[in-house]
Amino acid sequence: LRSRAPIIAIDGPAGAGKSTVARLVAHQLGLLYLDTGAMYRALTWYVLEQGTDPQDPVAVAELLPHCQIRLTAQVVQDDQPQPSEVWVNDRPVTQAIRSAEVTAQVSTVAAQAAVRQRLVQQQQQYGQQGGVVADGRDIGTQVFPQAELKIFLTASVAERAQRRQRDLQALEQPVPELEVLAETIRERDRKDSTRAISPLRQAKDAIEVSTDALTIEQVVDQITALYRQTVANR
Ligand code: DC
Repeated sequence: LRSRAPIIAIDGPAGAGKSTVARLVAHQLGLLYLDTGAMYRALTWYVLEQGTDPQDPVAVAELLPHCQIRLTAQVVQDDQPQPSEVWVNDRPVTQAIRSAEVTAQVSTVAAQAAVRQRLVQQQQQYGQQGGVVADGRDIGTQVFPQAELKIFLTASVAERAQRRQRDLQALEQPVPELEVLAETIRERDRKDSTRAISPLRQAKDAIEVSTDALTIEQVVDQITALYRQTVANR
């Protein structure tokens, strides 16, 4: 018999729709949502705010004990789950961590060993009791290798660039051209999947779901159906 509630791991490249899907799956199944990308972003925000060079792993490591990251697990408004709210040392940074500056530097910070060690530990604590849907790059491989259900969510670069444009519009931020965004996405994929520690890769036991031809609802339905099968078979 297992002593904790099940965990769903959702990994995949930037812009595949992981956070929207993970949030909705958590809401439908009554599980907690853990946005691990938001944690790497929150730390990166803090590094920049402190005037520390994100490329200097020693300086970044020195900041770690001074950076307390807090996330809400579930905020529901009008029956719709909202993105997690994020605080760094009690400063609200929910919007700030989505800025172009943070987005440009986060891969560099997320590639550092001390950073990953620290944030993975915090993520594992969060998942100790289970009952969590976590999304990221290394959830199924490193953070929760025992997760009951592992999803690898993908989408073509063109589709992801279009989604990014819509996200930026919604955030009322400047919207670059599609090809510029596509290039940024390729570059971030390259960095995330070639870094030495915990690169983005599909876990052996993960189920790949390509979202190009599917609506968000269809993706969510697929995952909740897989979850119900998995849990029923435990
Ligand atoms: O999913 P996102 O765009 O918010 O992630 C931001 C960055 O953090 C991205 O460049 C990859 C990195 N990341 C990571 O290395 N490991 C995770 N578990 C989640 C995100």
